[in-house]
Amino acid sequence: MSITVRPRRQADLPSLAQLLLAVHEADNYPTRLPPDPIAWLASPRIEQALVAERGGLVGHVSLASPAGDHAEQLWRQALGDEEMVVIKRLFVDPAHRREAIGRRLLEEAVSRAHSAGARPVLDVDAHSAGANHLYLAAGFEAVGELELVWSGEEEPFLARCYIGPPPAGATGRR
Ligand SMILES: CC(C)(COP(=O)(O)OP(=O)(O)OC[C@H]1O[C@@H](n2cnc3c(N)ncnc32)[C@H](O)[C@@H]1OP(=O)(O)O)[C@@H](O)C(=O)NCCC(=O)NCCS
Repeated sequence: MSITVRPRRQADLPSLAQLLLAVHEADNYPTRLPPDPIAWLASPRIEQALVAERGGLVGHVSLASPAGDHAEQLWRQALGDEEMVVIKRLFVDPAHRREAIGRRLLEEAVSRAHSAGARPVLDVDAHSAGANHLYLAAGFEAVGELELVWSGEEEPFLARCYIGPPPAGATGRR
């Protein structure tokens, strides 16, 4: 069955919240399950969100403004004043892994960032082997790491920050 990627609708949010719970249980992503998963998925900094369908909903990704992001300074050190869009909240149903759904969602998100004339950037738990492999395979480059602590948690975790390929014709620094 082929994969369809389309813009997220409001009506998708309850099913996505269920999917997020399954991902959290399987992968510890997000490290701390937000108390209101729907509000987390639809947070105001998110400018676009996409879902993948294969029969039902099997994946999600969103694009957000970098303003105020904990990794903004690290990305800026690498990219100066280049336009940036942050790829966030990428996850795939644990029952549908290694079916190229994550790669397809990432490609769509990168393409939308490029259409906006922006460089895709992101950060990920340095210990998430699958996600780090996916980003490297898609041409993302690691530019640094940050130690972060979720509010309410004591243990820090290491976030690895990446920059993606530039939009066609860009005259960026890399
Ligand atoms: C990361 C994630 C989105 C990948 O989704 P997926 O649909 O299984 O990935 P794909 O099938 O598209 O994989 C594409 C490529 O990524 C790499 N990859 C993906 N998962 C991998 C794994 N577990 N180990 C090693 N490489 C992996 C491989 O290079 C793979 O290509 P291949 O299958 O031809 O070898 C999924 O594992 C997930 O939802 N993880 C939990 C949430 C998370 O950590 N999200 C990142 C937030 S920043």
